[in-house]
Amino acid sequence: MQALVLAGGQGTRLRPLTYTTPKPVIPLAGRPFLTFMLDWLRGHGVNEAILSCGFLSDGVRAVLGDVYGGMRLRYVVEDEPLGTAGPVRLALDEGVLAERLLVLNGDVLCDMDLTAEIARHEQTGARCTLALIEVADTASYGVVPTHPDGSVERFLEKTDGEVPTNRINAGAYVLEREVVEALVPAGRAVSFEREVFPALVGDGLYGWHADGYWIDIGTPERYLEATYDLLAGTVPSALAPRDETGSLIGPGCLTAGARIGPQSVLGAHCSVGSGAVVDRSVLHDRVQVGADCEIRSAVLAERVRVGDGARVEAGAMVGEGARIAPGAVVAADARIDPDTAVEAGEALA
Ligand code: GDD
Ligand code: MG
Repeated sequence: MQALVLAGGQGTRLRPLTYTTPKPVIPLAGRPFLTFMLDWLRGHGVNEAILSCGFLSDGVRAVLGDVYGGMRLRYVVEDEPLGTAGPVRLALDEGVLAERLLVLNGDVLCDMDLTAEIARHEQTGARCTLALIEVADTASYGVVPTHPDGSVERFLEKTDGEVPTNRINAGAYVLEREVVEALVPAGRAVSFEREVFPALVGDGLYGWHADGYWIDIGTPERYLEATYDLLAGTVPSALAPRDETGSLIGPGCLTAGARIGPQSVLGAHCSVGSGAVVDRSVLHDRVQVGADCEIRSAVLAERVRVGDGARVEAGAMVGEGARIAPGAVVAADARIDPDTAVEAGEALA
């Protein structure tokens, strides 16, 4: 089975992390995000994954290479962003698409039963089958009501107000190549959600009701939520064992005298000074936190340095290489750009 993973969005909602690292390979619980997705795909018989990249594509290839756990990885790289369906057309025109394939949004962590989705696709004789999952708040998703036979009634991408169902597009499609040939024009950006699916309604577009764990990691809140869920084992994964505070400490970390946890992640080669607290927070590789600091529900990207006695408050995200001066405060929900210096007495919002 072949899968094409859409991994070329700019990840604007995850800035400042995505200024320097493409969303697909941002570390989640200490591993490049996409490795969770590739493990899941492999578990459902996928032996070849096409990674559709645009923005910062070299970064994705540098991290993942050409083989992952016995799976072949191919890269299809856009010069200009082609949206969600345009990249599949590009892969077709490059001659690498199988007759039937899976298409995945590259920012979803889940354990949906893709094998069952493929079986349903075959049963109904669909041209395209969408995995649909129930969520409480549908506002940032594509809402998809279906008829009793599973055929899609309408595709409503990000609509406000009353919705006919809480089932949304989970970003996992079984797709016949012929749909791409027939409905996705070459050479321009094309959206599955706004052009292709609406055109396929009544003409071979089916939904499959998925259940289990599902989260789109593309916002700071959901990135942290996914982290906590992985640490707690709410979603199955091959993570290293957590310590007694439910935290994951990477290799080469120095934390003597510091309080790490609960539910925190330290990447490789981090140091946290004595008297410091790291609480429900994520530190990527090589982060240095001084003595007596407080880091709460925050994300510090690679090589961030936090001076003694500084505080990083809940929901803050600090970009790669930024330096927080001793005693400085990074306010709740602040976004600090990569390589910025935050001075003492400055309470950045
Ligand atoms: N190659 C490429 N090129 N990939 C892209 C591009 C592009 O121009 N634009 C977006 N992508 C990728 C993103 O990297 C992401 O993996 C996927 O396509 C979906 O884009 P998002 O920007 O994350 O969309 P969304 O989360 O707002 O909405 C989509 O996902 C929801 C589920 O999480 C839609 O498919 C909704 O219908 C769906 O409910
Ligand atoms: Mg998304």
